[in-house]
Amino acid sequence: MVRRMRRAALGCAAIALAAGMVASGPAYAQSAAARSTTVTVKADAPGARIDRRIFSQFAEHLGTGIYGGIWVGANSRIPNTRGYRNDVVAALRNLKVPVVRWPGGCFADEYHWREGIGPRNQRPTKVNTHWGGVTEPNSFGTHEFMDFAELIGAEAYVSGNVGNGTPQEMAEWVEYMTAPAGSLADLRAKNGRKQPWKLPFFGLGNELWGCGGNMTAEYAADLTRRYGTFVKAPQGTKIEKIASGANSVDYNWTEVMMREAGKTVDGIGVHYYTVPGTWEKKGPATNFSEEDYARTISKTLLMDELVRKHSAIMDKYDPAKRVNLAVDEWGTWYDVEPGTNPGFLYQQNTMRDAIVAALNINIFTHYADRVRMTNIAQMVNVLQAMILTDGPRMVLTPTYHVFEMYKGFQDATALPVEVASPWYNKEQFTVPAVSATAARDSTGAILIALVNVDPNQPASVSVDLGSATASVAEGRVLAGANIGAHNSFDAPTQVQPAPFTGAQIAGNRLSATLPAGSVVVLKLR
Ligand code: AHR
Repeated sequence: MVRRMRRAALGCAAIALAAGMVASGPAYAQSAAARSTTVTVKADAPGARIDRRIFSQFAEHLGTGIYGGIWVGANSRIPNTRGYRNDVVAALRNLKVPVVRWPGGCFADEYHWREGIGPRNQRPTKVNTHWGGVTEPNSFGTHEFMDFAELIGAEAYVSGNVGNGTPQEMAEWVEYMTAPAGSLADLRAKNGRKQPWKLPFFGLGNELWGCGGNMTAEYAADLTRRYGTFVKAPQGTKIEKIASGANSVDYNWTEVMMREAGKTVDGIGVHYYTVPGTWEKKGPATNFSEEDYARTISKTLLMDELVRKHSAIMDKYDPAKRVNLAVDEWGTWYDVEPGTNPGFLYQQNTMRDAIVAALNINIFTHYADRVRMTNIAQMVNVLQAMILTDGPRMVLTPTYHVFEMYKGFQDATALPVEVASPWYNKEQFTVPAVSATAARDSTGAILIALVNVDPNQPASVSVDLGSATASVAEGRVLAGANIGAHNSFDAPTQVQPAPFTGAQIAGNRLSATLPAGSVVVLKLR
């Protein structure tokens, strides 16, 4: 008998069925037939809307994430629009990035917004104490960020300074950005922007348990109430306040924050990074072993438990699910590329990262009733980036391609799925070989995303659509020569989506053969 894991993909049902995991019979090595996966889609039991904002991103003043990666200045030889790289802007527009979180990260709790407005040549130069000790010219400030967000068609999520800023400074920043009139609105106009900006999301500090001030949960909750009181949206507008959330499994943080400040905020964050090794020796981004790969996948799947447990705590205080669980930092974190500044967090990105991205997105869609925003870290040149740049050159990473392939899931309606999958195991790591998610888009088409985690064997998948039928199944596959495949500046197309020809549909039955170590996204009509 094949080891199987059954999992319903929505809310409480997921907990109940996951608890009933069957793990009997011989492990893993099975015939191709015995290794098949069954996915049952409950097409007639739609779940929550998958908020497009779960496909959001994070851009911090860190390494070349902003300077060089997004902003080169109007006088650069790199083709740009008002200082923003044209190649990067075009790539991000194509992704339909819903929200960008800025300016940090750890940088946010030392950022003083007044230093980033006015004539650029008069802005103070500071030291970026968190990231590499390099100088921060403040050339990219509030106007540049808001302009950038508008250029790529994204909403703004600005993180305020609770660490070493005052509530007054924070309140004035919000007023500067959003007020229709008054002296701060006049100052904004003098600096080139008459119209108030929209500010849909505002973060009340970042990692207050760590770089944001090393606070206890109780103290952070008090400050969240205090600072949040002075974040005021102009009449007729709404600013969602996001509390600084837990460090991965710190459930007490969520408990305290919800209990003490839950009623005063609209969202609470949680940060979780997939680090294959230890924080001291994380492991390389490329040239990793299969054991490293299996460990990475096993660690990234902790996200399911994190979201489930943090959500359960939130349910106690907010059963109506008004408060958003914003996973506002997530992604892989490896050793930096040899020869690069250790403070710049620059790493390559392989098919392993693509699989990590898809697995996490599948998890987020399964909890769409509570998780309404996530921000992968980070957008360009930092950690699990969408895009890497080197001077004038740009390359799209496998992670970029996953986000691009999943675009159809933005604002679609989640459909519960049950997955009965064989295991993939390597050394002591055992994980389900196949992950799946499904949704119905606004045209009525069913979207299915399938991930074959197994780097050695194709996966044969049979999907039961229940009451739904379709006659056409089309989509794309992302796979490389192996799970370490990646795009470099010299070979930028080693990993890119290709039309998927391995699916057959008849009535309510879809069958597909997924290549080893691949991500497949299909649309059924
Ligand atoms: O994304 C890099 C850093 O990771 C962020 O600045 C911080 O919030 C987290 O620890």
